[in-house]
Amino acid sequence: MRSKSEKNKTIDLTVEEGRQYLDQCVPAEDVSASLKSVMDRVILGDPFRALPKLPPAFADLLIVDPPYNLTKDYGGEEFRKMSPEDYAGFTRRWLDLARPLLKKDASVYVCCDWKTGILLGPILEEYFTIRSRITWQREKGRGAGSNWKNGLEDIWFATVSDDYTFHVDAVRQRRQVLAPYREDGRPKDWEETADGRFRDTCPSNFWDDISVPYWSMAENTAHPAQKPEKLLAKLILASSDEGDVVLDPFLGSGTTAVTAKKLNRHFVGIERSEQCCVWAQKRLEMAAADPTIQGYADGVFWERNTGMLQKQARRGSKTKEK
Ligand SMILES: C[S@@+](CC[C@H](N)C(=O)[O-])C[C@H]1O[C@@H](n2cnc3c(N)ncnc32)[C@H](O)[C@@H]1O
Repeated sequence: MRSKSEKNKTIDLTVEEGRQYLDQCVPAEDVSASLKSVMDRVILGDPFRALPKLPPAFADLLIVDPPYNLTKDYGGEEFRKMSPEDYAGFTRRWLDLARPLLKKDASVYVCCDWKTGILLGPILEEYFTIRSRITWQREKGRGAGSNWKNGLEDIWFATVSDDYTFHVDAVRQRRQVLAPYREDGRPKDWEETADGRFRDTCPSNFWDDISVPYWSMAENTAHPAQKPEKLLAKLILASSDEGDVVLDPFLGSGTTAVTAKKLNRHFVGIERSEQCCVWAQKRLEMAAADPTIQGYADGVFWERNTGMLQKQARRGSKTKEK
């Protein structure tokens, strides 16, 4: 067991410590064309071997956070930086396998950094209709002496056809109103509450309200590229309905699966690292006991650092339910 401060909630179970979680995964060799056998399960193994075994046209939403084209260790499995041509080939390989698994009205999100994004955009366009590119200002980034610190990631949003789900009202962002405008003495397009003045705005494709998971957050794991549940919640709420199936072939620490479960969607996740699968299963267990998503409360997404207000909102909605 690694030693850490009491307030540090990072999930960093080793494979040995989490053996029981590994046993809950479906080995890639056992995947069959029956959706039932993989529904709400984490498949342990190479996505390039598991994807061809899955049934056609089952997924309503594809969320892909592939290894970016950088050398990185993901839970004991290394991804090595490739030439742009090879990375393009790697991308086409998973797209060829994932595309037939999507329903006609499915949506697709693909995460990338700016450099990988240059390559990915034109390739995605060969397979889908690109609708937008979301830019997430993730705040944390490594300082660089001879370049701008990279504080952004991009997420391509695409659809299989022109028929697709998009629930803008499910992903409104609650912003504090700094210059409250009134008409006839009444708030114009904002709300006055005991906790302050707010406006629930339509989200744009620039996201500046989401932090990278850090050590004091219950969702945090030792995965080096973990996405925040708040980010996945926006994608899932906007582009699926309750009961829909979300597919993630590069599941990592399980964020897509955990967030789908918390939002009453089904999931199929694939991850080749045993270590990552242990963290994903541990988080799925935790999600069953606590389905809250940090930064999303009372049906709206809150700005960064508004934790107290969110807690009040949650208490308020519980009181209303009584
Ligand atoms: C960017 S991470 C996904 C992180 C995930 N979204 C999360 O929130 O934890 C990409 C994942 O793909 C897996 N992976 C890396 N290279 C791979 C490869 N060549 N084939 C299959 N999976 C790979 C890694 O194990 C890693 O966990």
